[in-house]
Amino acid sequence: MSKAIYIASTEPYSGKTLIALGLMNLLADKTKKLAYFKPVINEPPEKGKDIHIETITSHFGLNIEYQDMFAFTREQVLYYKSMGNTTYVIDTIISKYKKLEETHDFVLVEGTDFLGEGLSFEFDANIAIAKNLGIPVILISNGEKNSAEELSNLILSNYQSFNDKEIQVLAVVANKVQSEHLFELHQILSKRIPKDVLVSVIPLNIDLGNPTMKEIIEAVKGKILFGQNEISNQVDHSIVGAMQLRNCLTRLKENTLVVTPGDRADIIVAILQANLSKNYPKVAGLILTGGLEPEEPIIKLVQGLQTIVPIVQVETGTFETVNLIASTQSRIYSDNKQKIDLAITTFERYIDTKAIENKLTTFQPEGITPLMFQYQIIKRAKSQKKHIVLPEGNDDRILKAASKLLKQNIVELTILGKIDDIKASIKRLNISFDFDKVHIIDPSSSPLYDEYVDALYELRKSKNVNMEMARDLMTDVSYFGTMMVYKGHADGMVSGALHTTQHTIRPALQFVKTKPNVTVVSSVFFMCLPDRVSVFGDCAVNPNPTPEQLAEIAISSAESSIMFGIEPKIAMLSYSSGTSGQGEDVEKVRMATEIVKQKRPDLKIEGPIQYDAAVDATVGKQKLPNSQVAGQASVLIFPDLNTGNNTYKAVQRETGALAIGPMLQGLNKPVNDLSRGCTVDDIFNTVIITAIQAQQ
Ligand code: ACO
Repeated sequence: MSKAIYIASTEPYSGKTLIALGLMNLLADKTKKLAYFKPVINEPPEKGKDIHIETITSHFGLNIEYQDMFAFTREQVLYYKSMGNTTYVIDTIISKYKKLEETHDFVLVEGTDFLGEGLSFEFDANIAIAKNLGIPVILISNGEKNSAEELSNLILSNYQSFNDKEIQVLAVVANKVQSEHLFELHQILSKRIPKDVLVSVIPLNIDLGNPTMKEIIEAVKGKILFGQNEISNQVDHSIVGAMQLRNCLTRLKENTLVVTPGDRADIIVAILQANLSKNYPKVAGLILTGGLEPEEPIIKLVQGLQTIVPIVQVETGTFETVNLIASTQSRIYSDNKQKIDLAITTFERYIDTKAIENKLTTFQPEGITPLMFQYQIIKRAKSQKKHIVLPEGNDDRILKAASKLLKQNIVELTILGKIDDIKASIKRLNISFDFDKVHIIDPSSSPLYDEYVDALYELRKSKNVNMEMARDLMTDVSYFGTMMVYKGHADGMVSGALHTTQHTIRPALQFVKTKPNVTVVSSVFFMCLPDRVSVFGDCAVNPNPTPEQLAEIAISSAESSIMFGIEPKIAMLSYSSGTSGQGEDVEKVRMATEIVKQKRPDLKIEGPIQYDAAVDATVGKQKLPNSQVAGQASVLIFPDLNTGNNTYKAVQRETGALAIGPMLQGLNKPVNDLSRGCTVDDIFNTVIITAIQAQQ
């Protein structure tokens, strides 16, 4: 079941509000706590509230603070984009959205309005936001000015752009379609859009599309002289009252706005009379141009009338005013109950609401983006604070990462090293560091040292470790840190910025040991690819696993994947797919796959399979058409360390992907290794995943 939906349009005035109102109305019946979120608004809050937010909030009585219902103005997004900092934009949008998602049953997210320069930037922004929020999309297009053929091409190309990014589009809606194109357009779209996408075509409705006097007054910057109470009058036509009166009257139609110079008293009086006459249609309003106000006797006359239409004075000339009126677009304001009701009934009439409900109920999210993954792991680590030991206090990167972790209050930290050295490093690095919040231990002078030496001796004496060796080993920060974890004095350890993998993980292999039912410690990397996170295992520990060990690595990796919210679809990688190839190495992978199938029939697994068939939908379908994994693998298991280690590094270096890990799996308590080339962010992320492992 989806907890949210994204309404995306591809151009201005496509009618997103109609869909938003209709959906909110549909969901209000079934859902207790509804939220509405518009990540990017047009104007800063000091210029007034966003019209869409205001309409939805007031009509559905939403009790959400205005500042929680948007993240940025359009201008701000452009600014951050120009500074190359779109990550900050998406991060902020994710955390604001998540706040609403956590406190409500359903969140309706509305895309940008396309009211400004640089439409392509907005198109991309909508795709990026929908993708990162991981929610399905309803795609709405404005069909007012196109033929059925043009429109269908446009809608299809927009649909493809979302589909290419693996964003699930639930429905495409062509709105404001001229009645003569309705049938044809529906036919073409139904043929060309995949069957599982709902197609809706909504005809142009002038009662929804034409502006009110209020909107026109705003557009022409008019001053209301009379008829303030009638500014919600709808304007369906406009004429210029520059001709003789008799000609002007014959051109009046229902809801006509008359534009005339302010000194044309004859026209003003006649139009007001026509409005009262049962022989003429209702007038929408009068606009008096050129900054001219009617003379006193005319004012007096109008003041004495009972029924009056809005009479508005503008500074602009008639020609300019008429142009402004022609380009005025209608919006649905919170006080326009009639339009709101009409939008909802239009939605119910032209959209298959049952099908939408069904699609929302059966929606299965596919994959997770790197930014959402990082947001979620930080949040999880904070939800139950764990104590992590960092043995390498003499490394600047460790201290910088610690500073960041302390600032964000993500974990409790112990750093191993000499307090004076660490203080000097912090001063040299000129970083903020709250010494009251961190424990600093120098192993050789620690009161815990003797206790740890005894423990190590007891644990390893059967392996020929004597007391002297134990004393010596315990001065090594890897042994001391691991013993802290073993003893429960810390919940996890992260090391390896200065030490080799062997040096870092050997103490854990020697005495933290493996969990029940696990014989082999292995590792995974969370590979943050441009638009998804994949799990790679084992790229750091086991040089040449046996089929049994490879099967165990696959199972542990699937469990790690589940622990971090990624649905495991395991690809057992080899140079052959299915039954196509043979050889000792392929057999090993085939056997390992069979063992996993027997031990864990609940897991989706495919093997042997080549990397391209595992991750590319087209190749996957071609090589293994009946596979549940081919083309969509999320957990990639390498046959040996040579392949795994080189592949993760190749992907990391060639694509710029962030590789979080290696995270060791199978140990009784979490100990994780860093690469010696690690960055501050790598350390930060590894501490976070270690803390999450410690929560299990
Ligand atoms: N799972 C569980 N226990 C293990 C494992 C394992 N995979 N490997 C070793 N052990 C245990 C052994 O049973 C032994 O226990 P015991 O002393 O109680 O009997 C203990 O660990 C030590 O075993 P050794 O055989 O002496 O292994 P050693 O410590 O020499 O090496 C290691 C183990 C470090 C995992 C080794 O296999 C290795 O070097 N792997 C490759 C690491 C590497 O270089 N990775 C690539 C770089 S990492 C990167 O790029 C991010």
